[in-house]
Amino acid sequence: MINGPGSHMNAWRSKDVPLDASVNIKHYIEITKIAEKAGLSFVFVADGLYINKKSIPHFLNRFEPLTLLSALATVTDRIGLVGTLSTSYSEPYTVARQFASLDKVSNGRAGWNVVTSPLEGSASNYNKGVHPEHAVRYEKAEEHVNVVQGLWDSWEDDAFIRDRESGVFFEDDKLHSLNHEGKFFSVKGPLNIERSLQGQPVIFQAGSSETGKDFAARKADVIFTNQDTIEKAKAFYRDVKFRAKKNGRDPEEILVFPSLTPIVGTSEEDAEKKYIQLTELVSIDEALNYLGRYFDHHDFSQYPLDKPFPDIGEVGKNSFQSVTDHIKQFAQEEQLTLKEVAQRVTTPKSAFIGTGEQIAFQMIDWIEQEAADGFVLTIPVLGDLYHDFICEVVPILRERGYYELHEGHQTLREQLNLPFKQNRHRKLSTLY
Ligand SMILES: Cc1cc2nc3c(=O)[nH]c(=O)nc-3n(C[C@H](O)[C@H](O)[C@H](O)COP(=O)(O)O)c2cc1C
Repeated sequence: MINGPGSHMNAWRSKDVPLDASVNIKHYIEITKIAEKAGLSFVFVADGLYINKKSIPHFLNRFEPLTLLSALATVTDRIGLVGTLSTSYSEPYTVARQFASLDKVSNGRAGWNVVTSPLEGSASNYNKGVHPEHAVRYEKAEEHVNVVQGLWDSWEDDAFIRDRESGVFFEDDKLHSLNHEGKFFSVKGPLNIERSLQGQPVIFQAGSSETGKDFAARKADVIFTNQDTIEKAKAFYRDVKFRAKKNGRDPEEILVFPSLTPIVGTSEEDAEKKYIQLTELVSIDEALNYLGRYFDHHDFSQYPLDKPFPDIGEVGKNSFQSVTDHIKQFAQEEQLTLKEVAQRVTTPKSAFIGTGEQIAFQMIDWIEQEAADGFVLTIPVLGDLYHDFICEVVPILRERGYYELHEGHQTLREQLNLPFKQNRHRKLSTLY
């Protein structure tokens, strides 16, 4: 996950990254090239559509994902390029064009992280009065993705003959209009761009609510999730695979990638020291602000810091539902004070802290125990902590046979061991 200075909410204050990291193209190019050289499968650019003064600092000033990924496509050959785009505030025809273009520009390396936009304020930036409710957003997301995927199959793979001699540019019966009329969208098609080397971009999704998981189980190739223990990750993994199966899919067709926030040290004490340094990047006021962000910018400064986490009822239910449920749950279970919750949320202490060897073995354990098919790396600060992971953890994974270094060009689907996406209109005769 390449989000400017890193995944820590105050990563910009670290001397390890350029001050303007979130809008510094050289920084993105550098970290992407390192990732490509190390053999990581993709870089991922997250996104949101609403800011205010309390937003994460590097969210106040950042690149739009597809613009950034297109730039990165031109300086890389192999690494996948995945970006977030919201189905609540976009038109499927535009989205289909944008990702199909990125897929062509990169020779089949594009992925779309489908989100429904948790932040209520997004409505005020998109000419809409009210932010649609959680369930409605997912209903719209499903129709949106169906339309986009339908548009992506507008042209069969050998539709463009481009025969100068005869003057025939394309074969008529290999062009397909979508003629979609649904609850939210009316889109005729066809799309004005052909398919790529991987057929269609890969669909990523990060829903963790019941509705979100059902949606991912039907539509996603990859699901991102935040799970803080191997037990919870295993339960999530089983749940998603089961839902996929119930929907008539092969469970192996949907990959579960929990986020992984590694802190690698030369010893356990050294890693602990690095964690403490991260907590020092944020003041208590900033921590309260950050916590409030998940609860639709609720003002937590009105409550006493050292008293139990306050009961705030349903606040946040319509934005980051699964995150807010999780926060309320661990606050209750562990009887934490507001201050402790705020610190835990701003500088999460992941399970992956220790020496390179310890972290590598833990990752292998998650894979072996079916808690994960892979991971999305959310490095707190994209400086030394990133290099530590690449230099200290990756070689051990490779040595143990858990990490393939691909040679030559590969599509994102190939890197993830996902099959080429066949065109739904493909004639049977072309199979032989
Ligand atoms: C690794 C990861 C990346 C995510 N990236 C984004 C993002 O770029 N933009 C966004 O609005 N939400 C993002 N989310 C949040 C999800 O889209 C989703 O809102 C959240 O997991 C809550 O699930 P729910 O919508 O089912 O309640 C991400 C979540 C995870 C775990």
